[in-house]
Amino acid sequence: MRHEVNILYLPSDDSIFLSNVVNQYHGVTALEIGTNSGIILRELLKNFSIVVGTDIDFYSLRHVLKMSRNERVICCDAAAALGNMIFDMIVFNPPYLPTIKNHSDKTTDGGSSGIEVSIHFLLSAIDKLSSNGKILMMVSTLSDIEELDTFIVKNNLIKKEIAQKALFYETLKIIEISAYA
Ligand SMILES: C[S@@+](CC[C@H](N)C(=O)[O-])C[C@H]1O[C@@H](n2cnc3c(N)ncnc32)[C@H](O)[C@@H]1O
Repeated sequence: MRHEVNILYLPSDDSIFLSNVVNQYHGVTALEIGTNSGIILRELLKNFSIVVGTDIDFYSLRHVLKMSRNERVICCDAAAALGNMIFDMIVFNPPYLPTIKNHSDKTTDGGSSGIEVSIHFLLSAIDKLSSNGKILMMVSTLSDIEELDTFIVKNNLIKKEIAQKALFYETLKIIEISAYA
């Protein structure tokens, strides 16, 4: 018998914070990396005509499809399966916690300093961005933001802080990343 491993990420403070910022953006095509429950995808559908979500967790995507409106979902690593599709907006609320020994959770484990998965998502997304496109991503003060800043400078990208939210144990920031024209 085959056992299904369900890693549904229940929408949390970070998901709601990001969905409230995402709805201020408009365009034609949008991609969310790490879709899971689909809360951000549904927000994107209000202001974008073509909306695609990816996740490595097949079972959460199957759950999204059951409630599907007009979005498309693909089970793949980051944006790896999207070929030469181009997006006006790419959004992600990545796993951003530093790895906890003997505890593997793909929804929260952001790598040894908490930022590695975010940088992996960025690397995968950057060539899928339209010329005026924007990447909107969540970062946490629990992860190594300096490492992200170094990556941004090295890759000649522009970073703008859009919003921040102080929680009891961390501060969440939503940053916008774009390429120089
Ligand atoms: C913090 S959860 C965010 C879920 C949802 N977007 C939200 O905001 O509530 C991160 C998601 O990234 C997914 N993920 C982790 N590594 C991934 C990868 N390499 N490619 C695609 N998705 C990945 C996890 O399965 C999880 O669904």
